Amino acid sequence: MADPVQIVIFGASGDLTAQKLVPALASLAAKGEPADGFILVGVARREKSDEAFRQDLRERMPPEIRGAFEAFAGRIHYFSGDVRSLADIQALGARLDALPGGQEVGRLFYFSLMPDLFGPAVSNLAQAGMLEMAEAAGPWRRVVVEKPFGHDLASARALNQTLQGCLREDQIYRIDHYLGKETVQNLFALRFNNTIFEPVWNRRHVELVQITVAETVGVDNGRAGYYDTSGAMSDMLQNHMLQILAMVAMEPPSSLDPEEVRGQKVSALKSLRFCGKPEHCVRARYTAGSVGGRPVPGYLDEGVQPGSTTETFVAVRAGLENWRWSGVPFLLRHGKRMQKKFTEVKVQFRVPPIQLADYALREDGGRVEKVPTGSADGPVCVLRPNVLTLSIQPREAASLSFSVKSPGPGMVMVPADLAFDYRDRFGESTTPAYERLLLDAIQGDPTLFLRSDEVEASWRFTDTVRASWSGPGAAPLLEYAPGSWGPAEADELFHGCEGGWSRG
Ligand code: BG6
Repeated sequence: MADPVQIVIFGASGDLTAQKLVPALASLAAKGEPADGFILVGVARREKSDEAFRQDLRERMPPEIRGAFEAFAGRIHYFSGDVRSLADIQALGARLDALPGGQEVGRLFYFSLMPDLFGPAVSNLAQAGMLEMAEAAGPWRRVVVEKPFGHDLASARALNQTLQGCLREDQIYRIDHYLGKETVQNLFALRFNNTIFEPVWNRRHVELVQITVAETVGVDNGRAGYYDTSGAMSDMLQNHMLQILAMVAMEPPSSLDPEEVRGQKVSALKSLRFCGKPEHCVRARYTAGSVGGRPVPGYLDEGVQPGSTTETFVAVRAGLENWRWSGVPFLLRHGKRMQKKFTEVKVQFRVPPIQLADYALREDGGRVEKVPTGSADGPVCVLRPNVLTLSIQPREAASLSFSVKSPGPGMVMVPADLAFDYRDRFGESTTPAYERLLLDAIQGDPTLFLRSDEVEASWRFTDTVRASWSGPGAAPLLEYAPGSWGPAEADELFHGCEGGWSRG
C-alpha cells in the first residue's frame, strides 16, 4: 500500500474543523477512503501537543462519530504556527516532510481561516516551495478555500489573482458545501437523466421558480463578528443559493467532464439579472421575540456593531436573460430565525390556457373551500399550477403536484401529487456534504467546486442587487419577528396570480 496522503487544516481550532471537517474525515477513514489512507495535521496559533489537540477534538465529536474518531485519532497531528509567518510555514514544511511519505505523497491544504488570511497563507506556502508541482505525474498539491470568497466582485477578483499567482487553477478548490449535498446534486441528475423534464424546462412552460433557504437558528455560536460583516445576502444567497439556482437553470452539459459541467453553470450565472428596481428586493433583520416558547434576542442584541444595518433576511425577484429563461421570474428567499427550517426549490408550471372545471377545491390555511372556476366573472387565480417541488433539507424528497377530478358529479378538481423520498427509497440518510467534498478534493475531482469565473459571476449579480440598497428610492431595511415568515413585504415579490412563498 502507498503512503497516506497528508491533509493540512489551517484554522484547526475553529468550529468548522471540529463540527464538520474532522467528523467527515473520521467517517471517510472508517469507510477505508481514500484507499491509501491519510494523515491529518491541524495548524493553529496556540501551542498544543498532538495529544492535547486530539483531546480537544474528542470532546467536541458528535456521539455518532466517536467510534470512528477513536479509530483514526492516532493519525491526527498538530502544528502550532501562524500562517502569516514564512518561518512558521517553512517549519510546517519540515514537519510534513518528516511524516510518512514526506514530500512524495499528495497534500491537501485546507484554508478554514479568516478570509484576510487566505492571501498570506497561499503566498507563504508558495514561497516555502510547498505548492510547486509539475503538471503531470508526481505528488499533487491542492488548496481548498472556504467561504467567504471575497466580499464583492472586486475583492473576489483580487483573491483569485493572488491564488492564481501561486497555483494553477486546477489546484484551487473553492468549496461551497451545498454542492456536497446529495439533494443538490440530484437537481442535476433529475434534470439530465430523465427525458420528461427537458421539453418543459423553459420559458414556454415554466411560470416561475422559487428557491427558499429558511433557517430557524439566529446568529449563534459567537459568529456575530463574522455575520455582521456579511449578512444574509453574502452568507447564503451569493453562494449556496446561486449554486442551487445554477443547477436548476443551466443548460445540459455534453458530458460529465468537470469543465463542461462548470462551464454551463457559469453561463447560467452570467445571464442572471436583477432589474435594479428597489421594490424587487426585500431585506430585513429579526427583532427580539420568542421561538417555540423560548425567548430569543433581536439581531442588534447578538453582539453585533451598534447601529448595524446588516440583514438577516433577503428576498429577491430576479431572472435570467437567455433563450431558455427570458421572462421567467426566479424568486430567491433566505432568512434566519424563521418559522421552519427548510431548503427547497419549486418549479411552477403555467396553468392551462382555458379552465375546464366547474370548481376547484382550494386549501387556505387548513380551510378547504370550493371555488368556481371558468366563469368570466369568477375568481381568476383558481386553477392550481403543476409544481415540481425539490426538497433539499431536512426532508430529502421530490414531488410533482397535479389536479385530479374528485369522484362525484360535476368537474371538481382536487390536488394530488407524485412523491419520492430518499429515506423511503434508500432507507438511510445521505452522506454528509463535507465527506463527499473532501474525498473529491483528495481524489482530484473539481466538478463540485467553484471555478474562478463562477465566483465572480455570482458576485457580479450580488453587487447589482446590493447597489439598489442605497441611493434615492432605496428600500429600507425592514424588521420581522422571530419565528415568522419574514416581513410581509416579501409577499409582494409575487405578482398577479403567481402564488406566494412556500411554507415548506
Ligand atoms: C453556512 C452559513 O455557509 O451555511 C451559515 O455561513 C448557515 O450561516 C449554514 O447557517 C447553513 O448550512 P446548512 O448545511 O445547515 O444548510
